[in-house]
Amino acid sequence: MEERKEKVLRPKFHVTGGEGWINDPNGLVVFQGRYHAFYQYYPHDVHWGPMHWGHVVSDDLLHWERLPIALYPGDEGDKNGCFSGSAIVWQDKLWLLYTGFTENEGGESIRQIQCLASSEDGVHFIKHGVVIGADNLPEGYCPWDFRDPKVWRKNDCFWCVIAARAKGGRGRILLYRSDDLFTWEFVNDLFGKDSLGAMIECPDYVEEKGLLLCGEQFQPNEGDTHLNIHTTRWHSGKINYQTGCFETQKSGIVDYGFDFYAPQTFAHGGEMMAWLQMWDRNVPSEKYGFAGMLTIARDVQVINGELYQTPIAKGKVVKREQVKSSLCDKAITGILRIQAKNLRGLRLEVRKKGEKCAYLTLEDGKWVFNRANVGEQISGQERDTDSLAGIRRMPFGGGEETELTVVLDEFSVEIFENGKALSSTIYPEEGAEDVSLIVDADACVYVRESMD
Ligand code: FRU
Repeated sequence: MEERKEKVLRPKFHVTGGEGWINDPNGLVVFQGRYHAFYQYYPHDVHWGPMHWGHVVSDDLLHWERLPIALYPGDEGDKNGCFSGSAIVWQDKLWLLYTGFTENEGGESIRQIQCLASSEDGVHFIKHGVVIGADNLPEGYCPWDFRDPKVWRKNDCFWCVIAARAKGGRGRILLYRSDDLFTWEFVNDLFGKDSLGAMIECPDYVEEKGLLLCGEQFQPNEGDTHLNIHTTRWHSGKINYQTGCFETQKSGIVDYGFDFYAPQTFAHGGEMMAWLQMWDRNVPSEKYGFAGMLTIARDVQVINGELYQTPIAKGKVVKREQVKSSLCDKAITGILRIQAKNLRGLRLEVRKKGEKCAYLTLEDGKWVFNRANVGEQISGQERDTDSLAGIRRMPFGGGEETELTVVLDEFSVEIFENGKALSSTIYPEEGAEDVSLIVDADACVYVRESMD
């Protein structure tokens, strides 16, 4: 009985692989009127292994239907894995540009090259082999760290950015162009200098919005709002197609939580999804037969050079209440919306059972999220005081009106306020379903939407 229940425990509206391991979202695209999401997938174990591309489709970015695995590793160029990449619709076909991984003897003998696949029906894919090989990588870059192409179309040709590493140096983002998706030429190194992180991963350029996203591995701490060893950074600005350089306006951290990495936007310059998990941490859901999920889709905008994200999540309103100073409710999955006027203080506890809960408070002009006491412990390589205490902080928007949105699903909580986000996994005990809210504000309304 117990065993059966553990097996079926899954998030309600967040994408998982069903069984097995997933990491990055890949190939986010609208094809024949439906949202397609692929993801790094190892179906045979709850740990990372030879990467496949799992595949789901949706009409609303909330209800996902599973399709057959789109890419299997094992061919020339992708012998040991089909790593991350992107999609584009061209001449009625769906094209995937992804990294083929060949391990060889490991270390510097690893080869990462870019491969192409296509589909007419959006379900079955034909591989076309290597289109950007090691011979297409300029001198001075490592052929063992060259991955995650993100493709788009502009000025009647195709462009893509690829993560790379300078020999003896750190992360770089390289720009390529092509007339037909099959033959590519190197244009430039976007920044022409090393990143802060040891290696860049999953660059994503949104031409329509003037936004560049990228993962940075082994990046030094930046104050108390950026403590994850692996993080994601945004840069607002534009690629100058004459020079092949990125001209930065502003930069920041995409998400302030524990578990957010490798974001990608849909190919039309649209919604963003990311891996709602993190490298180098234990994953307690392994015992339920799966590891890793994707975040809820988010609308992303650049406003005055700043990244502004809001969750694309809408359920059925099942509770709406004015809050004088406190409120009790119950929810395991759903959306909590808290609107407050002149908010001075707040404490929101979720997945509460007795003394145990995950909570969010407002302290000294910052949101403070704490997951230390909600259930199973998660630990990583981070050794700073906040990480060891289960804490992450996010700047508070301030001002007269506050709109706080909390997306709750089995094993995760995603918090949004003033365009900023804080996403974390949590592994509460069975029956932990109480919600408790205490506010100090001139007025406050609490709304809960159900995703049932
Ligand atoms: C990012 C990443 C990518 C790579 C993939 C492998 O999380 O390391 O750079 O393509 O995962 O699964």
